Amino acid sequence: MADEILKSENTNSGQAVSDNAEISCQDKDLPSSQQTLPGQDADAEGGVAKKEDAKKPKKTLRIKPVSLSSKAESMTSHEPVHGDAYLELKRVGKEYVSDAGGFWALKEVSFTLKNGEFVVILGPSGAGKTTLLNLLGGMDSVTTGEISLNGLIVSNLNKKQLTQYRRTEIGFVFQFYNLMPNLTALENIELATEICRDALPPAEILKSVGLEEKAKNFPAQLSGGEQQRVSIARAIAKNPKLLLCDEPTGALDYKTGKSILELLHSVSKEHNKLVIIVTHNSALKDMADKVIYIKNGEIGDIVENKNPKPISEIEW
Ligand SMILES: Nc1ncnc2c1ncn2[C@@H]1O[C@H](COP(=O)(O)OP(=O)(O)OP(=O)(O)O)[C@@H](O)[C@H]1O
Ligand SMILES: [Mg+2]
Repeated sequence: MADEILKSENTNSGQAVSDNAEISCQDKDLPSSQQTLPGQDADAEGGVAKKEDAKKPKKTLRIKPVSLSSKAESMTSHEPVHGDAYLELKRVGKEYVSDAGGFWALKEVSFTLKNGEFVVILGPSGAGKTTLLNLLGGMDSVTTGEISLNGLIVSNLNKKQLTQYRRTEIGFVFQFYNLMPNLTALENIELATEICRDALPPAEILKSVGLEEKAKNFPAQLSGGEQQRVSIARAIAKNPKLLLCDEPTGALDYKTGKSILELLHSVSKEHNKLVIIVTHNSALKDMADKVIYIKNGEIGDIVENKNPKPISEIEW
């Protein structure tokens, strides 16, 4: 599987494929504040963009060096990048407020992660893992503290800028898939990639997760594990800078789960992307460059793994 996705990119000159942008071509020379985006209100994975747009054939892959900072500048003010930090959290807190009162799901969370790292987040149910991913993915806003992605202060973005951020920087594999029920497997991927300038070919990515024969099936005609793989393919096909995966193998059998992890790992290593995986499977800590332990909304420990194991050597 991992080989197939890499092959699809290597046939296009062997360079890393740039992953920025879901801005429509006609708008690309405008400042981001004036850009209009197709599909009205599409979200991180395509949201509710127009279905007919998804039918347009993808053109060729565009290859160019990734430049995160130039995109970042167009969205908001910059701070200098500190060392080689790519993603930086400074004392991040999240409070959910309801009629029952306030609840701090995250408290004083600080860490930095680098481009190309494969990171595993572990913690018991209710620890705050999904909350953390939602903040990183621009799905929700911090209550306190600051999140920056290569100098772009995510926590300062307004609603419109956050939408842009989700579209252009983030691939998100949701814990409960979030596929569009009225679109086929392939259309779900096409929808998300349609507004990405440097997206990967949807059909090839669907093949890389082993689902080429299910391309025309609607989500209700797919098993849970197959839906999960469509959701993973959708996130990868956007060719994002930051790939956030919430329990990406939770519904997969052992063998398929390993293949998917290998694929996600190759995305991180071959293309220098930051991949963050939330899981309950503690065996996966051995394949990670870094393991972040969360408990009761706080970081328990961050362990750097000097010699991560290949997934083929990990059993559970
Ligand atoms: N919208 C919300 N309003 C109020 N409380 C919330 C909200 N979302 C999450 N919480 C609470 O925040 C805490 C963290 O939730 P979160 O979904 O981040 O946990 P998790 O670590 O992802 O758990 P799991 O492993 O079960 O998916 C939980 O106690 C949860 O009840
Ligand atoms: Mg969760």
